[in-house]
Amino acid sequence: MAEQILVIDDEKAILDLCQMILRSRGYDVRTAQSGAEGLEQIQAQPPALVLLDYMMPMMDGMSVLMQIKQNHPDVYVIMFTGKGSERVAVEVMKAGASDYVLKPFNNHDLLDRIESVLKFRRIEMINRSLEQERAQLQQEIQAWNRELELRVAEKTRELEQAHNEMVQAEKLATVGHLSAGMAHEIRNPLNSIGLFAQLLSAGLDQNDELAEYPDKILKEIDRIDDILLKLLAASKQHKTESGEISLADALHDVTDLFRPQFRQQGVNVDLYLQPVPELVADRDEIVQIFTNLFVNALQAMPEGGLLSVEMESHDGRIFIEVNDTGNGITQENLSKVFDPFFTTKSKGTGFGLSVVLRIVKNYHGSIRVSSEPGQGTSFYLEFPLKSPTENTASVLA
Ligand SMILES: Nc1ncnc2c1ncn2[C@@H]1O[C@H](COP(=O)(O)OP(=O)(O)OP(=O)(O)O)[C@@H](O)[C@H]1O
Ligand SMILES: [Mg+2]
Repeated sequence: MAEQILVIDDEKAILDLCQMILRSRGYDVRTAQSGAEGLEQIQAQPPALVLLDYMMPMMDGMSVLMQIKQNHPDVYVIMFTGKGSERVAVEVMKAGASDYVLKPFNNHDLLDRIESVLKFRRIEMINRSLEQERAQLQQEIQAWNRELELRVAEKTRELEQAHNEMVQAEKLATVGHLSAGMAHEIRNPLNSIGLFAQLLSAGLDQNDELAEYPDKILKEIDRIDDILLKLLAASKQHKTESGEISLADALHDVTDLFRPQFRQQGVNVDLYLQPVPELVADRDEIVQIFTNLFVNALQAMPEGGLLSVEMESHDGRIFIEVNDTGNGITQENLSKVFDPFFTTKSKGTGFGLSVVLRIVKNYHGSIRVSSEPGQGTSFYLEFPLKSPTENTASVLA
């Protein structure tokens, strides 16, 4: 389609002449006899080029030029200037005109100038659309980059978590091996020490001031034996004889077992258990999880408080939350509570939560903890509903 040219001049003769010359060259030409009329036409339908007279009554060419450049930067302007004045030429070029032609003009010269301005305009328009395309592509690339960064960050987090879990599992395995062997070895000589202490006790005169020591020895032996039994329990192998069990039943049983202690310590218990499918698991192991969590909660609430348990199931998983209003865990200790041997209690062994973690992992579940020191602690457990044996089978298949 031919480019449109608008001629704005107060002289009718110039308008007719331009129209004739430009039409003969195939341009689509319109005319306006005043600045105001010309601006109206530009507003209604912007042409590619305006031939604009500098000297016009009413609104002069300079103010028309400035308005065109301000509102329609894509409309290019060639100024007709009267007697060749350098000052006017510089002024119109500064104001944004693409060229100027001295009146009276030579037809060929006018056409040459028009053609070169239009050529220049076409190149500039292509450049501009390329610029826009480039800017858009840059924006898209930036968006991709951001998306990529997010994905990398997410993958890094996942990898870190997997790494942490692996480290935990390795620690547990090491403890398992070591403790099983050690516990057996230590219990034999310990038994002998106990026996000798008893013999000593029997042989001593009960009024002797040394008579109380064998009893103290026996008490300490009991404590060591207790720790060793816990060590053995912590290193136990995962039980494979599993059946379908009701987690709600297990939770009620453990709660009943602890009821006298709850009452004595002034701890209220709330269970919010939604019906959930049965879990393929070993009942003793599940009981062990809740026992350890409840003992910790009790120990964290010596002055009483509230223990609440919530359970629900969706998306093929079971979710359990165990909350207490106890003394909480400091930020620094939060990442260590599942480590074997980590304890803040004078008589603790630090096994409770590592055993819980081992069992949860055996069922392909997960456990998280959050805590607010002085406010309380929450443990979040998740179990997939598929049985571990099914999981193994699907991995092997
Ligand atoms: N509910 C809780 N409230 C406050 N601190 C807790 C809670 N549960 C665990 N902890 C912290 O985590 C540590 C480790 O707990 P874990 O059950 O593994 O060992 P323990 O209770 O110290 O000893 P054990 O359970 O072997 O007798 C605890 O010593 C305690 O500092
Ligand atoms: Mg414990």
